Amino acid sequence: METTLKHDIRVFPDPYALAIAAASFFAASASGAIVNRGIFSAALPGGSTPRLLFRILESAYRESVEWNRVHLFWTDERAVPPDHEQSNYRLAYEGLISKIAIPSGNIHRIRGELNAAEAALEYERDLRRFFKTAVLPRFDLVFLGLGQDGHTASLFQGSEALSETMRLAVPSFSKSPGNWRVTLTLPVLNNSSAVVFLVSGRSKAGIASEILAQNILNRYPAGMIKPSPGKVIWLLDREAANSLKNSGK
Ligand code: 6PG
Repeated sequence: METTLKHDIRVFPDPYALAIAAASFFAASASGAIVNRGIFSAALPGGSTPRLLFRILESAYRESVEWNRVHLFWTDERAVPPDHEQSNYRLAYEGLISKIAIPSGNIHRIRGELNAAEAALEYERDLRRFFKTAVLPRFDLVFLGLGQDGHTASLFQGSEALSETMRLAVPSFSKSPGNWRVTLTLPVLNNSSAVVFLVSGRSKAGIASEILAQNILNRYPAGMIKPSPGKVIWLLDREAANSLKNSGK
């Protein structure tokens, strides 16, 4: 009998409402981690969807989050300098980091200005140093985006990065638009306490339906994100969830 996975799917009227919910989840997770352990670690995604999230975090949580106890990492980065228009770091810096009181030592940037192999090794050293682990880091919270082809972070279908079981971060080549990147690996992502997907826009409706309604999971990297014992939550706006409705979700 086919097992139908139940996903934790939350649908919002529009991208702004989605960003508000994501920011609220970030703030609540940070508060809980800081109370329990005095520190909070989060990995930020790339792409354009997080832009609104950063704006809400900066405007609504600038004072209420204890940013001096928050450590920010990235799920992936393009092999470009930090001031490059394609830099995931630049998006977060301009939208959030430059506007909040977060110590520079709490920003764990992937150094895209290096070649991807060197940047991945350096990032892995930083991860091991921060998490004080010889095994697997455990992020309190990881935000992920969803590509129309089912990629997430910079884990692409058929890439060697998908089969990495030992390393924490590896180089990854994106065929479209044809650039090198650095990405966290599946073992790290699946060791997170919580993974939150941010999915916005009609262009993601098809892939979201395949993964969430039809449970076509292991064909796509995003479908391979199954943290255990952590949780995965899918935040979609109405446009991105459109096909879910039609498939009886
Ligand atoms: C990247 C991202 C990537 C992104 C998705 C969704 O560096 O491009 O990490 O995985 O999250 O492609 O991108 P959008 O938010 O732009 O749709």
